Amino acid sequence: MAQYKVAVIRGDGIGVEVIEEGIKVLEALSEQFDISWQFEEHPWSSEYYIKNGQMMPSDGLDILAKADVIYLGAVGHVDIQDHVTLSGLLLPIRRSFDQYVCERPSVLYPGITSPLSGKKPGDIDMVVVRENTEGEYADVGGFQYAGFDEEIGVQSGIFTRRGCERVIKHAFELARRRDKDRHVTSVTKSNALGYGMLVWDRAFDRIAGNYPDIETQSLLVDAACMDFIRKPEVFDIVVASNLFGDILTDIGAIITGSMGLASSANLDPQRRYPSMFEPVHGSAPDIMGKGVANPMAQILTGAMMARHFGENAAADDIEKSVQGLLVQGEILTPDLGGSSSTESVGDAVVRSLGN
Ligand code: NAD
Ligand code: IPM
Ligand code: MN
Repeated sequence: MAQYKVAVIRGDGIGVEVIEEGIKVLEALSEQFDISWQFEEHPWSSEYYIKNGQMMPSDGLDILAKADVIYLGAVGHVDIQDHVTLSGLLLPIRRSFDQYVCERPSVLYPGITSPLSGKKPGDIDMVVVRENTEGEYADVGGFQYAGFDEEIGVQSGIFTRRGCERVIKHAFELARRRDKDRHVTSVTKSNALGYGMLVWDRAFDRIAGNYPDIETQSLLVDAACMDFIRKPEVFDIVVASNLFGDILTDIGAIITGSMGLASSANLDPQRRYPSMFEPVHGSAPDIMGKGVANPMAQILTGAMMARHFGENAAADDIEKSVQGLLVQGEILTPDLGGSSSTESVGDAVVRSLGN
């Protein structure tokens, strides 16, 4: 029996609600696929911060390092500034475990009506590969005269040749593995950001030279946003910096139906450290506690986690089950036009496994 040690961080808001369903689905697969999920819960969250003055204990990263993977809900609380909560938990995990690739698929599934008119299922089927450890999110900056009239904030973007090349290479490899259109789009802004983004562009050109079988295009991020709306069908693999990838994947989520369907994986492709599986969406304080959050993004993120372990049949089963419910259209949360609860969607996914 395969044993996988999964550190679970439910986090805040709807993260706590949807991860319950994600775990339920993974547990339900154990017997058929001979998997033993060893879930280890860590109560690290904004509530934890309120009690302890930190988002996780000082040795939190050492504790997580012992797990095979991390399964995370969401982080963010209305009473605490986001930079405190995210810089105390989520972002240090991505950086410390060198999870330099963030894979975020955007697929328009049968049963979903895109807000974009005329787009049919299958028309949108792309993966955004987001750089996840440096770029605009580099932890480099500072204040001077904080709180005074003269206040200055410096926020530095760090684009290293190594950092750009490795994520871009991953994108090309994924284009080959997926074998869909064999097409990679680079998202840049080197018309205005003439240093870091030039390192990015040069890295893209160099890596592209090693993949003559893959077609490429380079788009400025503003034009890329437009094309995500105007002609999303042209995209196969999109590779983008940390910030651009963040923004584009919310667009990718909503054009394929909902934030509640968008899965995501933060990967250390070399597997030196645990990778982290968390959906694209946040803690959604506007709907927390109401039992209406869509758990499908968290559940599909669980499928990405299973695939990371090579449990492809289990991952396929989860994806098929979710897709079946979307086609059936009866047990859906309000974001997809239904009136079912988070829990009943989780239960329905479990019931349709193995079909
Ligand atoms: P959000 O993703 O939480 O919510 C955006 C919108 O999408 C809201 O209207 C919300 O109700 C809806 N939504 C999101 N997930 C949904 C789901 N599963 N089912 C149904 N509807 C869903 O983004 P936000 O409101 O900008 O951020 C809220 C908090 O979450 C902030 O503190 C932010 O920093 C944090 N955040 C955390 C993560 C993370 O932990 N990975 C990701 C994004 C945002
Ligand atoms: C995401 C989130 C995070 C990000 C925030 C919460 C720091 O928006 O995972 O998309 O920007 O990476
Ligand atoms: Mn985001």
